[in-house]
Amino acid sequence: MPCAIRPHNDEDALRQAADILQAGGVVGVPTETVYGLAGRADLPEGVARIYQTKGRPQFNPLIAHVDSLERARALIVFSPMMVRLADAFWPGPLTLVGPKRDDAQVCDLVTAGLDTLAVRWPRSSAICALVKALDCPLAAPSANPSGTISPTTAQHVGEGFGDALALVLDGGTCPVGLESTILAVEGDEVTLLRPGGLDRAQIEAITGPLKAAGEGGAPRAPGMLKSHYAPSVAMRLNAQHPRPGEAYLAFGQSPDNFTGPMINLSPTQNLVEAASTLFASLKALDRHGLTISVAPIPFDGLGEAINDRLIRAAAPKEIL
Ligand code: TXA
Ligand code: MG
Repeated sequence: MPCAIRPHNDEDALRQAADILQAGGVVGVPTETVYGLAGRADLPEGVARIYQTKGRPQFNPLIAHVDSLERARALIVFSPMMVRLADAFWPGPLTLVGPKRDDAQVCDLVTAGLDTLAVRWPRSSAICALVKALDCPLAAPSANPSGTISPTTAQHVGEGFGDALALVLDGGTCPVGLESTILAVEGDEVTLLRPGGLDRAQIEAITGPLKAAGEGGAPRAPGMLKSHYAPSVAMRLNAQHPRPGEAYLAFGQSPDNFTGPMINLSPTQNLVEAASTLFASLKALDRHGLTISVAPIPFDGLGEAINDRLIRAAAPKEIL
């Protein structure tokens, strides 16, 4: 049976999704960042099926998605700094990593044995409705086969998994288009584990300067592999001009006299627009089978996360 794509706000579709999750299955769900591949966080079978469906060889810890601050507080111990961050940015594209509570409603496979847990309250009516209906957090990585580009439409999810997935809830194109920003919080110390859809300046207005992952013993995200989010073709970054025989991902003014395949992330140099179309544009250019050269993108605002994803996409592939 091919994967069914059904509207995310259709009651019957939500009921079908809840039934699949209840039985230990997985469902594709929209969020404002990227689509997630969700399973019940407290069912080892459901979480194992996430890893199996993604083809993720190692047990890299997952984010537990919740529908309220109250449910988040039942999972991890909140420091005053975490409360301030949650108040400012939830629901939204921010994941907080904190000390896992002993009685947290997640199985060990979600944390891959760590004593910390990543938690996010997304802007996703479907996830919130399912969490409420099941009375359980949902574990969800991005809904793409391991090592490929994260999906920003329900069609991407369907194409990625084919028969291996029964249902994707369709919420249209993800407005942010990049995965959430991940912060580890230890007391007042806040470490940036992954740049993402919430930019540094907004966070630092609350936290002060962020620590870098790995700096002076600061934590890292186990999943931050060098090569990730990768298209199948080679990539060339910071290319002021495309070469003949390449495909070009432009930003700002498009080059004159280039006749190859080209997509412009944002003719007006708007980084929010560029973030929202980055993954879909890489996927579309990948289909031509040509090296993708990419225009220079500034590092400010969401540019930090865009450049992070591009550098990973261009890195030599590791065996994941
Ligand atoms: O926007 C997003 O964050 C999407 C949507 C679906 O919510 N999810 C997502 O999940 O990108 P995933 O599994 O692709 O990335 C989660 C990252 C991984 O790099 C993982 O290593 C890190 O979070 N992580 C999870 N738990 C952690 C923990 N306890 N400590 C440090 N890093 C953790
Ligand atoms: Mg991912």
